[in-house]
Amino acid sequence: MKNASLRRLISKRDIRRRVRELAEEITAHYQGRPVVVLGLMNGALFFLVDLLRLLPESVIVECRTVASYAGPSSTGKIHGLDMLHGNFAGKTVLIVDDILDTGLTLSEVRARLLDMGAKRVDVCVLCRKEGTRKVRVRAKWVGFDIKNEFVVGYGLDFDGVYRTRQEIFVLEPSSSTP
Ligand code: IMP
Ligand code: MG
Repeated sequence: MKNASLRRLISKRDIRRRVRELAEEITAHYQGRPVVVLGLMNGALFFLVDLLRLLPESVIVECRTVASYAGPSSTGKIHGLDMLHGNFAGKTVLIVDDILDTGLTLSEVRARLLDMGAKRVDVCVLCRKEGTRKVRVRAKWVGFDIKNEFVVGYGLDFDGVYRTRQEIFVLEPSSSTP
């Protein structure tokens, strides 16, 4: 996106506070029962690490890379599902992802895990967009409900960049340029 500008949407402080709340809720919910936390790369990278630091030492951590985006819109085709293999049979899995948009990624990943015999699959996302779902996905934990705008930062990218920004921004076409 040429001539784009960034508008801050969620501050570092709000992210930190919300991640802490989510970690408390997740910890209370599973009550020390074994859980595999499955982070979806690359978008969930920062959220996952910050959350994991606050979860009990009994959690097992797995990461897989899945991708569905090229530029600012979902391609609808999810890459990386074949990389999902692993020891999920009989396990409770908590998928951690950056954002729930069309829902295609999370519903596919969830279905794969259940096919592989996972006992239960819960979902935790940093952001959930309003009014963009193509399939129904229930996220048990949501960091922030946001409008249908393209966001970057704190792991979220636009064509690979902006992930390292520590706050979340809306990427919008700049009005100041001709
Ligand atoms: P879905 O399959 O359409 O729900 O999209 C899921 C993936 O698309 C997310 O894990 C993100 O990587 C990417 N995505 C969706 N919306 C945004 C956004 O606003 N900014 C950056 N990435 C996004
Ligand atoms: Mg992603």
